[in-house]
Amino acid sequence: MTGRFQAPKGTYDLLPPRSALFLAVVEALSGELIRAGYGHVQTPMFEDTELFARGVGESTDVVQKEMYTFTDRGGRSLTLRPEGTAGVMRAILEHNLLEGALPVKLWYTGPNFRYEQPQSGRYRQHTQVGAEAVGVDDPLLDAELITLADRGYRALGLRDYDLRLTSLGCGTCRPPYRARLTEFLAGLDLDEPTRVRAELNPLRVLDDKRPEVKAMVADAPVMLEHLCDDCAAHFGAVRAALDAIGVDYVVDRFLVRGLDYYTRTTFEFVHRGLGAQASIGGGGRYDGLIAELGGPEAGGVGFGLGVDRAMLACEAEGLTPFSAARVEVFGVGLSAAARSRLAPIVAALREAGIRADQSYGDRGLKGAMRGADRSGARYALVLGDRDIEAGVAQVKDLSDGTQTEVALADVVEYLVRAANPGD
Ligand code: HAM
Repeated sequence: MTGRFQAPKGTYDLLPPRSALFLAVVEALSGELIRAGYGHVQTPMFEDTELFARGVGESTDVVQKEMYTFTDRGGRSLTLRPEGTAGVMRAILEHNLLEGALPVKLWYTGPNFRYEQPQSGRYRQHTQVGAEAVGVDDPLLDAELITLADRGYRALGLRDYDLRLTSLGCGTCRPPYRARLTEFLAGLDLDEPTRVRAELNPLRVLDDKRPEVKAMVADAPVMLEHLCDDCAAHFGAVRAALDAIGVDYVVDRFLVRGLDYYTRTTFEFVHRGLGAQASIGGGGRYDGLIAELGGPEAGGVGFGLGVDRAMLACEAEGLTPFSAARVEVFGVGLSAAARSRLAPIVAALREAGIRADQSYGDRGLKGAMRGADRSGARYALVLGDRDIEAGVAQVKDLSDGTQTEVALADVVEYLVRAANPGD
């Protein structure tokens, strides 16, 4: 069989010009973290399967149905990471980072893999920008991370989203609350799969999107009203810090997340223009996770921001937070000698910080000018054999068609000044 291949189901290729939006999103979201002193961490794209089973939680959809698990040639069970937190915690423990300065603050970006039913905004490979702050149980850290995510979205120009916030309690107040909720759910007429879900994790039933289930659980007891004093104080402090910094949020009593490790503060950024897959980012505190992975009793808080969905959100709001033009200057050489003469000029422009490209190969004047147009460049630098003899080049302003003859010796300086009119 011969023939062409397609990207696997649920994955896609990122190509220009859309790939520029991807880079702009990663830069805006990670820029906030870098400015806040978070260090960069990279962990492997696959880990021991057991790390995710224990870290993410056996009862979650992610572990039960969505992991890409394989046995390697050495007989080890490995899994492509479905999310970033478990691997980062493993690395923090493996390298004893909790014995150094606290909190340990790290950020990361990269692909995650989940075998989900693909639809718009839901893919089998997606990219996140994530951050974790570990080892100090201070509500100001929860507020810091929430603020950094919010400011990252704002830096991109996003406005049409809500920040939803709740507290999921802790090892003291959640078990009795869970028992109450289980009792409440047992009194409802739930279908079989939902009943099974209620037994595995009753909280998840509160997040059911079906109107008939929503109506049934409208009066269910909610965690927020059953927090212990410590958790209530922690939640109050997070809210006070967000109020003082000026971050808008709504308290969402029914917010439930898809991963099991969350305790106390939990949040989600939900975009209003995205339909079903509207969560552009989320996170929270996970005070039992490190101990679960064999580490000390240390808490942490973090988030994962979906890059694919932030791109869709930018598109939904009509934002292009990057330059649509590939380059600013495009060299058009009308002969092989002219193209060779342009190469060092283009290199010098790039060194001066100007984005520049030139025509390659013998494409004729028309083909080369089409290349200049397609590049989005404002200026075409046109050079023929006669120009070389005269020691000049023609600078064509493609925005209005005007042409200026400039001495070859001065052309870099001329274009640098033209491209930076304010300087
Ligand atoms: P998560 O909510 O599973 O959290 O994922 C974070 C974000 O990644 C989601 O809000 C969404 O924007 C994006 N995302 C998740 N799955 C997909 C998918 N299949 N297709 C496209 N985008 C997706 C976590 O992963 C946690 N590790 C976050 C965290 C860090 N919590 C504490 N620290």
